[in-house]
Amino acid sequence: MIRFNQDEKVFHLQTKNTSYVFCVSDFNSLEHLYYGKKIHDDNIKHISNRQIYGHVAHEHREKRDFNASVQGFEISPFNSGDIRTPSVIYNCDGNLDCNRLRYRSHKIYKGRKQIDGLPYSRPLKDTETLEIILTDDENQVEFTLYYTVFEGADVIARHQTVKNTGKSDVTIQKFASACIDFYGMNYDVVTLEGMYIYERAMVSREKLKRGTFKNESLSGTSSHNKNPFIAICAPNADEDNGEVYGFNLVYSGNFSEEVSVSFLGDTRVLLGMSDVGLYWTLKPTQCLCSPEAIMTYSSEGLGQMSRNFHDHVRSSIIEEEFVYSPRPIVINSWEASYFAVSEEKVLQLASTAKDCGIDTVVLDDGWFRPNDKQGLGDWRTDKQRFPSGISGLADKIHAMGLKFGLWLEPEMVNENSELYKKHPDYVLTTSKNPLISRSQYVLDLTRDEVVNEIANRISQELEGAKIDYIKWDFNRYVCEAGSYKTAQGEVYHRQMLGSYKLLATLKQRLGNVLFETCCGGGGRFDLGMLYYSPQIWTSDNTDPYARVFIQNGTSMAYPVSTISCHFTKGDCTSGRQSTYDFRYNVASFGAYGYELDLSEYSAEDKEIFNGYSKNYREIEELNLKGDLFRLISPENSSFYSYVKVSKKKDKALLTFLELNATGFVESMVLRLKGLDPDKAYKNNQTGQVLYGSTLLNVGVRIGDLFREKRCDGYSVLFTEV
Ligand code: DGJ
Repeated sequence: MIRFNQDEKVFHLQTKNTSYVFCVSDFNSLEHLYYGKKIHDDNIKHISNRQIYGHVAHEHREKRDFNASVQGFEISPFNSGDIRTPSVIYNCDGNLDCNRLRYRSHKIYKGRKQIDGLPYSRPLKDTETLEIILTDDENQVEFTLYYTVFEGADVIARHQTVKNTGKSDVTIQKFASACIDFYGMNYDVVTLEGMYIYERAMVSREKLKRGTFKNESLSGTSSHNKNPFIAICAPNADEDNGEVYGFNLVYSGNFSEEVSVSFLGDTRVLLGMSDVGLYWTLKPTQCLCSPEAIMTYSSEGLGQMSRNFHDHVRSSIIEEEFVYSPRPIVINSWEASYFAVSEEKVLQLASTAKDCGIDTVVLDDGWFRPNDKQGLGDWRTDKQRFPSGISGLADKIHAMGLKFGLWLEPEMVNENSELYKKHPDYVLTTSKNPLISRSQYVLDLTRDEVVNEIANRISQELEGAKIDYIKWDFNRYVCEAGSYKTAQGEVYHRQMLGSYKLLATLKQRLGNVLFETCCGGGGRFDLGMLYYSPQIWTSDNTDPYARVFIQNGTSMAYPVSTISCHFTKGDCTSGRQSTYDFRYNVASFGAYGYELDLSEYSAEDKEIFNGYSKNYREIEELNLKGDLFRLISPENSSFYSYVKVSKKKDKALLTFLELNATGFVESMVLRLKGLDPDKAYKNNQTGQVLYGSTLLNVGVRIGDLFREKRCDGYSVLFTEV
């Protein structure tokens, strides 16, 4: 709900449990007042009444002790008298003379407008939007701030546009999507740190100090090393208690998130596309639109913050068509054959796939090239190894009663390709000697002709092929903001706009099938990608022990149904052995599949796999629609445990993983979370019936949870009786 108190000029945005309040100040700027637990009052201006003399120059001649650097703001331009970290920097006619943005008008309406060319949170029935116009009349620049309220998930989305309403050029050098000021600095900052084959595996928590903490990616992707999710929380906040503010961006490119603590000890959070190298020129009448930022507040720790984000991602980011439907159980050819794929091998994989409960065969990289040194950009099927072509192979797979999936990497071109030879200017580079990685360049998608060329090549090659699933990969960073046609300061953001355009175009041409995005493993696990693909390949690290950390970190911000996990040999990155049960229980955390050469496995093994697939189908609804409660973090622990609870609280799946062999595990007591205390639940392993209140408060001994053999990974289903 959005309220505007006309007398006091206060905006009050309310979700189920939160309030976000700001006002039009006496000087017509937008002054932030409060964000947190839901409150009744609109007029809380008493909180703003701080006057501190401090050398800061301002417009208020009669108020000598006015100080803009101790006020909260909704937008804070450089040169405006607020000397803290600015949220926007623009210049007009070459002068850094932006300042004095004045409130002009606002409107509140049901629903929301779409953001052209960018992914965003899709509106629900009760969604409302507040749109506020601010102008800099001296320079003729107009900003529009958008606030969209998603009541149920306790999420508020923000973005802004800037328009040149004058006669000379305006250049944008910093353009944060959101600026949120908090009084006080007593916060920790939480981020997801990682690297290639260890993406988001380290949940980092640091005490905020005076100065600026920065979470950023400059790789042209949201990256393996960083993630656009960030949170600030009270020092005493833990998984279940305490105040937490979570933030994320609906964006997949370079981003910058700053948490600055001012001299007075106030905290400012800025989220947006990166300003490094940004120099975006707006000719008269032109506009620039920021990506969307989302934020949530939880008074019940990090766990509730995650669940708010999970609900929001499922209800508003992922397409309705896919979000709650059972996902394919795939067999992917990559770890089975790498580049050595052929029609024969794929059909061989398919021949026993059904025995393992698999329904979709995915042909990964290699169908158009023998190695990674050629083929990208040309997109011509290797007819020697695939004599029936992709369309013929897809028909054969379908005739076996299976679905067919295919791997693509459309944003790239190999140096050794016809496309590159013909159009060496089609790549991003700042020199005649472009930087190279994996023998490939990044196509210059800032140019429409390149987007069209690659979309046409791929759709022509695949014309008539019945494809049910696409894996969309991206195997190197961008690294060079240079285009033969596009101004350098606009390349990174325009490239992202081009990528989204290409994704949307090919999705539409390939029949809007289920996409799984990927970026050399999990280098683009973000809300921008989830807008187009309901699931993302989480990491090339399929060692289940490492996956525990990767998946646990990813679950801080993203629902388990988005986290693509495969049952594999498990040793490809580590050489480490693991039990089948451990591997299954790790892989069934998210969207489940296989990545194995099935011909290496016995009939008995296949029966086990079949049992796993069946079991996954039985619990899948909890993955798609349930709430995740993390019980034991794997960090500094020998165990990892979580429970997924249905919204009706009539079912709960407890998973317990032993990361380290210990003697005492069976006598450990585990207390569940999320159950209804007044409901009685039956344990499907032992048949024991206990009330939720007992499972939540008394707990259970690990050794009593399961019936049979001692194992290092298992799940127990509790069902209401
Ligand atoms: C990186 C992906 O993460 C892998 O699963 C595989 O698709 C390779 N690329 C193929 O080149």
